[in-house]
Amino acid sequence: MLLKSNFLNPIIFIIFTIFTPFVTLIESKSTIEPCSNSDSCNAMLGYTLYTDLKVSQLAALFQIDSITLLTANAIDISYPDVENYILPSHLFLKIPIVCSCVDGIMKSMSTKYKTRPADTLSGIADLVFAGLVSADQIREANVISDPAFLDVGEILVVPLPCTCFNSSDNFLPAVYLSYVVKEMDALGGIAARYWTTVADLMNVNSMGSTAITAGDIIAVPLPACASNFPSYSSDFALTVANGSYAITASHCVQCSCGPGDLNLYCTPASLAVSCSSMQCQNSNLMLGNVTTQPSAAGCNVTSCTYGGFVNGTIVTTLSTTLQPRCPGEHQFPPLVAPPSFADRGSLFGPSPAPSQSQGGSPTTPKSKVVPGSGFPPANGPSGSTSGRNSAASSLVMPFSNLPSALVFSIFIKLVAL
Ligand SMILES: *[C@@H]1O[C@H](CO)[C@@H](O)[C@H](O)[C@H]1NC(C)=O
Ligand SMILES: *[C@@H]1O[C@H](CO)[C@@H](O)[C@H](O)[C@H]1NC(C)=O
Ligand SMILES: *[C@@H]1O[C@H](CO)[C@@H](O)[C@H](O)[C@H]1NC(C)=O
Ligand SMILES: *[C@@H]1O[C@H](CO)[C@@H](O)[C@H](O)[C@H]1NC(C)=O
Ligand SMILES: *[C@@H]1O[C@H](CO)[C@@H](O)[C@H](O)[C@H]1NC(C)=O
Repeated sequence: MLLKSNFLNPIIFIIFTIFTPFVTLIESKSTIEPCSNSDSCNAMLGYTLYTDLKVSQLAALFQIDSITLLTANAIDISYPDVENYILPSHLFLKIPIVCSCVDGIMKSMSTKYKTRPADTLSGIADLVFAGLVSADQIREANVISDPAFLDVGEILVVPLPCTCFNSSDNFLPAVYLSYVVKEMDALGGIAARYWTTVADLMNVNSMGSTAITAGDIIAVPLPACASNFPSYSSDFALTVANGSYAITASHCVQCSCGPGDLNLYCTPASLAVSCSSMQCQNSNLMLGNVTTQPSAAGCNVTSCTYGGFVNGTIVTTLSTTLQPRCPGEHQFPPLVAPPSFADRGSLFGPSPAPSQSQGGSPTTPKSKVVPGSGFPPANGPSGSTSGRNSAASSLVMPFSNLPSALVFSIFIKLVAL
């Protein structure tokens, strides 16, 4: 069993905090997960934007790429000029991060923040990083001689909370979201929004009661699809939350989870620029292709699946199984246009996915294409050989829809990585 324990994290009242408007004078708790090995996992931060930010600016704040940010929130990356789209203040989004064992505690240490004029530690902690970190934690993680006077342009490590808990919850795959409790939140409401139960949240966070206080950080298990890539693959243990996407294999492969079942489903990514072959050996099937052949005994299902990214090579696996019934067309989690406003739900609590509140809103002003038309294929690889070509062309479409400048800038970033 993994230890799940509560951690009292008293916010020490330090002189410099007096002068800032962002002080929280309450004791806040966060769930910490002790660890002893070099394990890491995919995790999420529940983040509320403190100001209007471009997609690329938000991605840069957490040092992730824009595509990763968008796909984790099921936002349509084929939306015109999506990297420069301005996300509204107070919007709640899930930020995908890698969670690792650092000094005996699971956390993320990959985020760096460059200080700007008039920054204070508590402003950075409570406002810019929306309470995911405290001023004290930033101070401890950095050598700061005088917290009252930050040098402009100083690079600070921002330790962020995350948990892995074996990427499972009740023996089912899960991705853990670090959620900062807001004023209006009740545990029941959080549980309902994320399709879990109060009992499960209490168990995961080792809570003795349902009481939560604004500023507490709780770990919320999101149902997810697990991978079974070999340990030597660079995307080993990829886990994708229900209703979302992940881009892997140097942006060559996209994997989605849900909505119908929790089996990871990977296809060539629309971004695929220079990728190794995505065709299964001794077969004409590509990643994600499924053929079916009804027989007296059931349905003979042959599929070409993704098996991880090994030494720059996309591993494909051809497998044939006999199933009672032929599977229907694969359904993809719905994509949404970039949210243009933060609704009450985002202001006062988490929404399970932006898709629930903003879903493909026809009122979104800037859209010139029908959101969701390109990526992923609206009718993906189907259960039969027919209808594949349409899926094929829509897989390639999205980026031909994009201004070439964006494609170029994304490409440059890939090269720069
Ligand atoms: C870890 O999760 C897997 C399923 O994802 C499960 O089979 C295994 O028992 C779990 N291990 C522990 C130590 O909980
Ligand atoms: C996954 O999400 C879909 C909606 O996007 C929902 O209908 C389904 O119940 C979810 N599955 C689980 C196991 O939570
Ligand atoms: C299922 O299909 C595979 C490949 O097409 C074939 O080799 C195998 O004999 C088939 N099995 C049945 C039971 O039809
Ligand atoms: C990856 O490549 C390195 C050297 O380039 C080799 O030593 C290693 O065995 C390879 N790993 C796999 C899993 O093929
Ligand atoms: C398999 O899917 C790919 C795209 O994922 C598509 O280009 C191709 O036409 C499909 N091939 C077959 C034989 O189904």
